[in-house]
Amino acid sequence: MTLTRPRSSRLLPWRNGHEPSADGPPDGLDSRRTVLVLSDVTKTYPNGRDALKDVDLVVPEGDFVFLVGASGAGKSTLIRLLIRDELPTRGTVTLDGDDLARLPRRRVPHVRRKVGIVFQDFKLLPRKNVRENVAFALEVTGTPRRKIRPAVDRVLALVGLTGQAEQYPHQLSGGEQQRTAIARALVHDPRIVIADEPTGNLDPLISWEILQLLLRINELGVTVMMATHDADIVTALRRRVVALEDGRVIRDEVGGGYHRAG
Ligand SMILES: Nc1ncnc2c1ncn2[C@@H]1O[C@H](COP(=O)(O)OP(=O)(O)O)[C@@H](O)[C@H]1O
Ligand SMILES: [Mg+2]
Repeated sequence: MTLTRPRSSRLLPWRNGHEPSADGPPDGLDSRRTVLVLSDVTKTYPNGRDALKDVDLVVPEGDFVFLVGASGAGKSTLIRLLIRDELPTRGTVTLDGDDLARLPRRRVPHVRRKVGIVFQDFKLLPRKNVRENVAFALEVTGTPRRKIRPAVDRVLALVGLTGQAEQYPHQLSGGEQQRTAIARALVHDPRIVIADEPTGNLDPLISWEILQLLLRINELGVTVMMATHDADIVTALRRRVVALEDGRVIRDEVGGGYHRAG
């Protein structure tokens, strides 16, 4: 594990005024605040398929985590548990101190906003331009109109899309579409950004640009988890790698390559 503290999130101007809540879990081995804990998580789908088996995972604030594994290993299932699309069959998923299975219904939207999610296929609204796609994420949660414009402008500047704000998805390159999706994921000031194969539809050069952007966001203090098949990226970056195989965590180490060492 890296034991360095994350850089101050004060670098994220829209985070000003958000004091860390005092209800985080107690300090463990790592003195950083914990964003995410999976404890003995098993997920069995209704068809009997065990997609995750006895998974334990702790993600401290500021981490950059690669989630790797073959197709079918359970990466997307793990991500669906984190955004509470699915509930674990056994075990607990705790996000920022909240057990996701025990959340009162009225708190679900609030807790969901703590996770920014980015998908392989971007999932932009085709009839909305870049600015509107990002703004929509705030509109649906009832953000006051006067706060939306500055928040959207800030994240568009961060991802380098200020000049493309009025363009529609079909007018953008794949990389620009993914940067729009990343801006949308950030606009709520999430505790963690989760990207499920975000470079899966992009060529290597553009994949690398998207990765640089996620690294910069991480340097600004946002925890990032990225599921990927891209062995070159994982091996080059020497970050924390959590490897799944057939629903189990078979490896969790910092600085590892995509494949098991030795
Ligand atoms: N909704 C579902 N119902 C039943 N089985 C599923 C469902 N989603 C995924 N699975 C199965 O669970 C396993 C893990 O899938 P998934 O989490 O999508 O893996 P990955 O993202 O690593 O490719 C696979 O065997 C897959 O077929
Ligand atoms: Mg998947």
